[in-house]
Amino acid sequence: EKAGYEHFMMKEIHEQPRAVKDTLNSVLKDGKFDLTDIGLAEEDIRRTSQIYIVACGSAYHVGVVAQYVIEDLVKIPVRVELASEFRYRKPILDPNGLVIIISQSGETADSLAALRETKAQGIRTLGIVNVVGSSIAREADKVFYTLAGPEISVATTKAYSTQLMASYILAIEFAKVKNTITEEQYENYIAELQAIPEKIEKIIEDKERIQWFAAKQANAKDAFFVGRGIDYAICMEGSLKMKEISYVHSEAYAAGELKHGTISLIEDGTLVIGVLTQPELYEKTISNMVECKSRGAYLMGLTTYGNYSIEDTADFVVYIPKTDEHFEASLAVIPLQLMGYYVSVAKGLDVDKPRNLAKSVTVE
Ligand code: F6R
Repeated sequence: EKAGYEHFMMKEIHEQPRAVKDTLNSVLKDGKFDLTDIGLAEEDIRRTSQIYIVACGSAYHVGVVAQYVIEDLVKIPVRVELASEFRYRKPILDPNGLVIIISQSGETADSLAALRETKAQGIRTLGIVNVVGSSIAREADKVFYTLAGPEISVATTKAYSTQLMASYILAIEFAKVKNTITEEQYENYIAELQAIPEKIEKIIEDKERIQWFAAKQANAKDAFFVGRGIDYAICMEGSLKMKEISYVHSEAYAAGELKHGTISLIEDGTLVIGVLTQPELYEKTISNMVECKSRGAYLMGLTTYGNYSIEDTADFVVYIPKTDEHFEASLAVIPLQLMGYYVSVAKGLDVDKPRNLAKSVTVE
């Protein structure tokens, strides 16, 4: 059932190109998006003046990426919130708002409670859900099913990737209906999405290089992931993968925040992973990495091909293919999943069933 892989997590990492492609193809008709199966009519989209994204864990990290993408493409405010916070803060919601709940299992207690709280206020809800017929899928007004297939490993990989894809699709369709992008941009974005599965495949093909690096880092006590914008959102997911399956204490920091406290933790040999896929933020994050280096940090850089000047600063570099900058999280997350996986393997840990964690958190 592991199809020749040692762990479900590795099998599921390899399933990502297929899962992402299926999710994309499920709404593509004649080269355009058709969201009628989801039940999102143009009128629903036009009327939406604010989006709230509510989720837990990795699904929340998808929401953080989506927040940047939707605000930039659709030009409406997006607020992303942890379900466990949202449900208790008595949120004041815009009557023309749309609440998007993201959940692989569709059973996460806090996410389900947040959905119910939203519906009680009469606000429209949309679930991005993987498990067909799950509670969130049944109770949300509309459902966008991700087609990841069953995910067994406790640490999510392919569900995360399909949730990102679903978010991009919504962003692009909303932007088209609200006329914030041109027809040409619409077509270009779809073409970029279609190229993502193959690029993910290419990154996975290079996994031995990550394995080598991860084995060297297996004794790391701490890891700090730093980036800006979408790269910061990627850092959150990379950091979670590292701590949940490898038991390495890790933190994700918006690179500009380092100076406000965290940099005092950097000493000789501390592992710092810089994520730099966003062209406009590249130099800014490089300068934060230089600051870490001068305090003795050991630096890994994750960036797109072409940014070779990173080698002046980083001790180890992973290059990923370019895509439109809005969608770069889909590529950058892959080496970070592999890092978490290989550090866990190098430490001889139970990769698929990390201690204290359950696949589906049905109690708060
Ligand atoms: C991390 C992970 C968790 C889940 C979170 C939400 O690898 O899998 O953080 O993302 O528990 O679960 P769902 O998506 O089922 O609501």
